[in-house]
Amino acid sequence: MAMPGTLDSANLNGGQKLAVKYFTVALALFGAQIVFGLLAGIQYLKPDFLYGVLDFSVNRMVHINALVVWLLFGFIGSSYWLLEDEAGIPVVGLRLGNLVFWVFTLAVAVVVVVYLLVQIGPGDHSTLWLINEGREYIEAPRWADIGIVACVLAFFFNVAATFAKGRYTGIGGVLVLDLIALFGIYLAGMFYTPNISVDQYWWWWVIHLWVEATWEVLVGCLMAYGLMKTLGVRRKIVETWLYIEVALMFGSGILGLGHHYFWIGTPEYWFTIGGFFSALEPIPLVAMVVHSVFDSGTHNMKNNNHPALAWIIAHAFGNFFGAGVWGFMHTLPQINLYTHGTQWSASHGHFAFFGAYATLVIAFFYLALQKWRGNVWMSGGLAGAWRWKWALGLLNLGMVGMVMAMLVAGYEQSQIERAIEGSSWVGYFVAQAHPWFVQGMWWRQVFGWMFAAGFVLLVWDLLTLGRSERRPAQVHAEPGVR
Ligand code: HEM
Ligand code: HEM
Ligand SMILES: [Fe+2]
Repeated sequence: MAMPGTLDSANLNGGQKLAVKYFTVALALFGAQIVFGLLAGIQYLKPDFLYGVLDFSVNRMVHINALVVWLLFGFIGSSYWLLEDEAGIPVVGLRLGNLVFWVFTLAVAVVVVVYLLVQIGPGDHSTLWLINEGREYIEAPRWADIGIVACVLAFFFNVAATFAKGRYTGIGGVLVLDLIALFGIYLAGMFYTPNISVDQYWWWWVIHLWVEATWEVLVGCLMAYGLMKTLGVRRKIVETWLYIEVALMFGSGILGLGHHYFWIGTPEYWFTIGGFFSALEPIPLVAMVVHSVFDSGTHNMKNNNHPALAWIIAHAFGNFFGAGVWGFMHTLPQINLYTHGTQWSASHGHFAFFGAYATLVIAFFYLALQKWRGNVWMSGGLAGAWRWKWALGLLNLGMVGMVMAMLVAGYEQSQIERAIEGSSWVGYFVAQAHPWFVQGMWWRQVFGWMFAAGFVLLVWDLLTLGRSERRPAQVHAEPGVR
């Protein structure tokens, strides 16, 4: 084995070699997401900027599709990362897994290039098949949809077959069942109907049931594994928490779907169902915070990977505040009447996606880096530790700043456009010209640059951290260090 500190793929098992490929593409797409976000943000301030060259509609689309895809790559990578460790045997069908990685990556690249080359055109069937399906967040054209389904089926086979042949841990069992739901739901977003209410009805099955049910369960599995690896928490403890979280998550998240059925033409009973169940959704997120803070506390925060644990804690709080608190704020129909579709939603959307998902995938980047460098020391006194700390600070502060700026703009829109002007067309423009809105958009941009600076540091850190370190990682075997 190579010296600790040297990046060597011999340090990784088969699944992990594949995982770091997924992580690399995820990081690149994360970068692209930020670039397109910044461009879209500038267009809010200067509407003429790049008009006709790179329209806002396209920037925004690439921004949020890149987000979804990099997180999916991060999740697939993380699943491969823990697979051999959990199942106790080499990945079944690894060659297929590798092939699928390249096909998937190539397909994503082609889809993005087509988005950029064909920015406007008729919305007919050929567009749907070849260019853009027109469904926010999952705009990939039909051919790519089918390809995605094939790729994830192969991935699912790898995971399920490996656990079936090796051993099923609690984490493994939850993961496999969750992946069936996660990818099964994607099919609902491919269902074409000319009726916009029906279309939205099904589309939300993907969007809401992903982020508020199946993705949450998936990050629950990842957090459980991450806590075992960094802190040395006993399996029994993390798996018990996992079962509780999963039960609560599905108990509230499935019918919580109704909070998107308030204004799209669905029957009125959704007000009650959606309002009630979605209001319960923060509860599992509280459980996740308690879980991670409790585990860290009982181990006196002693852990063998400082950056990874820091990002896991950022995840616990980001998930709770971004999804739980920010979601709860506008989830009752009486409030949503005023806030629906304002910057309030964008504030929550940024906070939740970053807090719940980006953070945990970044934690896995650091877990991977540690092992890739031969289980190198990543605890106190690490050379160049300022970089990961500054990246953590700038990314989180940049995000919270953007979120607050959008929240102020959203408050102003709810008040002026909705409450005072009665949701009129004129009200929409009056609200957008108001200084609070305009300034909110400027501050979003300022904090966006801060976020981007944090990203640059993160990449730099991932390329260098632990390089000059020769100490092997600290071992924190359980017996519940207190
Ligand atoms: C990690 C989990 C979550 C993520 C990633 C997330 C993300 C988002 C995003 C991106 C939107 C905007 C959708 C659009 O384009 O129209 C949205 C809308 C919404 N979210 Fe969440 N969310 C999460 C959890 C929650 C939770 C737990 C609640 C409630 C307790 C919630 C309540 C809402 C509501 C009410 C809307 C509709 C806003 C509107 O009417 O414009 N979300 N969410
Ligand atoms: C450099 C930083 C960023 C900037 C300047 C930025 C800017 C923007 C802009 C201008 C939009 C369109 C909003 C609208 O249509 O009103 C948007 C949408 C969105 N962005 Fe970002 N973004 C950034 C980073 C991020 C990050 C890191 C995430 C998540 C991890 C994210 C998630 C989203 C989501 C979910 C939406 C759709 C929100 C909705 O429909 O309500 N963005 N972003
Ligand atoms: Fe939702």
